Amino acid sequence: MSSKPQTGEVEEVYLWRGSNEQRALRSMWGKFGRFSYFNQQLGFPVWSGKPVLDFGGNEGNLLMDKDCTIDPEHYYCVDVLAEALAEGRKRFPEAHWIHYNRYNCSFNPEGVRGLPVPDLGIKFEMILAYSVFTHTTREDMHALVEELRGHLAPGGTLAFTFIDPHFHPWPEEYPGNNVRWRLEKSRKVNPQVDVDRLLAQSEGADWCALIDGTGLYVNSNGNWRDEAQRCLTYNMFYTAEFLQKEFPDGTILPPANREMQHCCLIRKSDERV
Ligand SMILES: C[S@@+](CC[C@H](N)C(=O)[O-])C[C@H]1O[C@@H](n2cnc3c(N)ncnc32)[C@H](O)[C@@H]1O
Repeated sequence: MSSKPQTGEVEEVYLWRGSNEQRALRSMWGKFGRFSYFNQQLGFPVWSGKPVLDFGGNEGNLLMDKDCTIDPEHYYCVDVLAEALAEGRKRFPEAHWIHYNRYNCSFNPEGVRGLPVPDLGIKFEMILAYSVFTHTTREDMHALVEELRGHLAPGGTLAFTFIDPHFHPWPEEYPGNNVRWRLEKSRKVNPQVDVDRLLAQSEGADWCALIDGTGLYVNSNGNWRDEAQRCLTYNMFYTAEFLQKEFPDGTILPPANREMQHCCLIRKSDERV
């Protein structure tokens, strides 16, 4: 008899594209530290009164953080998952929920490749993307970051997270690095996942992709065998050193708020001064 998946054992994408049993876990899913994470990484700015774009914001986990001081009416969530946006809209009807039908091999395999980021007619002081480029190809990350720069107000900041494969996020209580943690999570859903073999493959990688928890591709986006160009889970890792080379004007910060993800801050110069 198969044991029931518990919250925390499945990845986000299963909550939207998984089995009925996995989708039913949504209401129990708790992602409450998003605002605190960015608040710390950005140095505790004033949020109230400022327009914020939550790129890949899903159902608005940022707003659900009990410490969040973003005004819902100034909050804009752009995501490829129409169903997640509908959930967010139910909870915060005064916020703005914008569907962006861009292809993502895992979250939106039916989407349109290379579709431009929607122009909302607003320049944002803050654009936040938590765990979005951890699920796109390297080329998509670059293309989207370039586009998002164009949506920043003068003096505004784009903050996005990434996962360093070799970083040990919780050394006091967990001996493994970020790749091991992800592989062990995949093994809970698929007992065939060979954690030690895949972990050994990732050693020394500048960046790597883990596809469906079972295929690890070093310094490569990897391949989807499926002709429909889809996979269920797609996890991308970059070392902090590599990401700094990719975005030379970015500031790389270690994880905050006891989370596993690093942060890259990109500031737009203030042309007004
Ligand atoms: C792991 S979830 C993180 C959700 C949310 N940011 C959070 O912190 O809880 C990744 C999100 O990115 C969205 N996403 C993936 N590719 C995207 C793209 N090209 N544009 C916008 N959203 C995207 C997914 O639909 C999903 O909601």
